[in-house]
Amino acid sequence: MESAKFITLEGIDGAGKTTQLESLVAWLRERKVPTVVTREPGGTPLGEQLRAILLDKSMVMHPETEALLMFAARREHLDKVIVPALAQGSWVISDRFTDASFAYQGGGRGLRWEKLEALESWTQGGLQPDLTLYFDVSVALGQQRVGAIKTRDRFEQEQPDFHQRVREAYLMRARQFPQRICVIDAHQPVDAVKAAVEHLLNNLLATGSE
Ligand code: TYD
Repeated sequence: MESAKFITLEGIDGAGKTTQLESLVAWLRERKVPTVVTREPGGTPLGEQLRAILLDKSMVMHPETEALLMFAARREHLDKVIVPALAQGSWVISDRFTDASFAYQGGGRGLRWEKLEALESWTQGGLQPDLTLYFDVSVALGQQRVGAIKTRDRFEQEQPDFHQRVREAYLMRARQFPQRICVIDAHQPVDAVKAAVEHLLNNLLATGSE
């Protein structure tokens, strides 16, 4: 029996996640896998409005407000997009999900892990991605790649030490959930990263059609 999979992509800003997302989606569509592509924060009309607030660099907010808004957007995203799509047999590919809250609000902003875990279980119960691709790059390389972009959002404009804490928190999360989170070395050339992703997808596709 086919079973729909929930895949999330993560990484510090400039990890090359967006490029990989595009080729991953093309790879699935070539294989006629029904696929819904979405992102966080966002993915719903309400979530996209929250995204605009969260990324607006003129917006000042308490770190807990930031975390609560991320999870509010996520609650809506699960209800309106993720859960219904999976129920209909579509794979769901989300550009970021809860690991980003642990990395950015936990690592970056310094919120306690337990508070985020409470929000996580409140918002999503036991639902977790089947596979999380974490694209790991050094802050220096990430910053260099973001540097090519004209305008930086509220997170991208943070200092290197913020991004270093984000990266460390992602790696900590990956150590905590080694079965679900695959760490991909994103210092490699794009094609090598792509090959690593396709290898993981092949395995997942095989388990989905058992
Ligand atoms: P990003 O995914 O990098 O989009 P773009 O490629 O368009 O810049 O932007 C989303 C930003 O939101 C990113 O800097 C990380 C941040 N974020 C959090 O801080 N916490 C979260 O829970 C999520 C989902 C994202």
